Amino acid sequence: MHSTLRLAAAISLASLFSLSAQAADSKGSVEVVHWWTSGGEKAAVDVLKAQVEKDGFTWKDGAVAGGGGATAMTVLKSRAVAGNPPGVAQIKGPDIQDWAATGLLDPDVLKDVAKQENWDSLLDKKVADTVKYDGDYVAVPVNIHRINWLWINPEVFKKAGIDKAPTTLDEFYAAADKLKAAGFIPLAHGGQPWQDSTVFESVVLSVMGVDGYKKALVDLDENALTGPEMVKALTELKKVATYMDPDGKGQDWNLEAAKVINGKAGMQIMGDWAKSEWTLAKKTAGKDYQCVAFPGTEKAFLYNIDSLVVFKQKDKGTAAGQQDIARKVLGEDFQKVFSTNKGSIPVRNDMLADMAKHGFDACAQTAAKDFLADAKTGGLQPSMAHNMATTLAVQGAFFDVVTNYINDPKAEPADAAKKLYAAVKAAK
Ligand code: BGC
Repeated sequence: MHSTLRLAAAISLASLFSLSAQAADSKGSVEVVHWWTSGGEKAAVDVLKAQVEKDGFTWKDGAVAGGGGATAMTVLKSRAVAGNPPGVAQIKGPDIQDWAATGLLDPDVLKDVAKQENWDSLLDKKVADTVKYDGDYVAVPVNIHRINWLWINPEVFKKAGIDKAPTTLDEFYAAADKLKAAGFIPLAHGGQPWQDSTVFESVVLSVMGVDGYKKALVDLDENALTGPEMVKALTELKKVATYMDPDGKGQDWNLEAAKVINGKAGMQIMGDWAKSEWTLAKKTAGKDYQCVAFPGTEKAFLYNIDSLVVFKQKDKGTAAGQQDIARKVLGEDFQKVFSTNKGSIPVRNDMLADMAKHGFDACAQTAAKDFLADAKTGGLQPSMAHNMATTLAVQGAFFDVVTNYINDPKAEPADAAKKLYAAVKAAK
């Protein structure tokens, strides 16, 4: 069954609007479900909470731990099925359309705010389209993350005798070998499915290029998913995996980031929310750590747009709170402070065009420059691992095959490629 129908069927079993009483206070309260729970992520979301509370609303925090958001999505579905969706929730990419098709999102609550604040001209069309359903905004985009980054501790590199950041896969392996020989963990990595697939998609991009990535992970083309380039990408993935932290099974991404920050590991392949942990540890980009594109992906940008959807609610106070959140989120001040803490870049075009003026660091300036340049060349592609390219059902199929492949010592790349296609086809 198509995932939209699956979601709708589950939800129609329940009464849709058994709305729980909101906390009584003068301006109303709004519950926000999100998965920003690491130290750095929390520092970022606390900025929004403080701004909304300053405006007199009560922020009910619906944080659900679990990087990548799979647990939060499960919680959200059961809340919706129980007829008790929160006022606001972090949902991304094509899933926004699926949720909107169930009728549970509110296409009216953001209308005036979007018009008054000129969202159509503030946002790139690609960004705006992601958060619109039938022409109406059903979500507010918060920030833009890039996935294909490599995070490096330069002091560890120096100790291991490595003089520069790798720019090819071969240089990456050479650096990893030196790190290993010097007694460091070459690649900090938590073996959770979404983290495995974060590495997988960066390797696919490196080996197959932008066109190959798009055909395989966005268009889900059979030839691209099973062909020789995918087999090569899977072969490289297996090699990359040999350098992963042996203690990383099931580890959270931020605990692995801490190993690079504390000088136990040399590198981590992770989206730029990893920077939030470096920022929290008071480290400076370009000095205490390096952010470089994953080798072979300099001319591409796998994007991931965090957004907050609004669910229909009866309580008028909630609508006011939802609107206040939306207005704050796209405000210049929030865009700057949140992304500075979170490691992302703003969604506003005017800010992306002048990052230095807003005091963003070297990593963020590079990200914005690449985002704008890659948007022109086609190098800007949606992340599969972070819900931007496919529905959650298809993403789940990728996650299963990729994680099994990484963990099965006998797995063959050609066989895994066939399994990828079969699993994706069944999930469509
Ligand atoms: C989200 C980020 C979050 C990361 C780790 C990504 O999918 O877009 O906002 O920091 O997961 O949880």
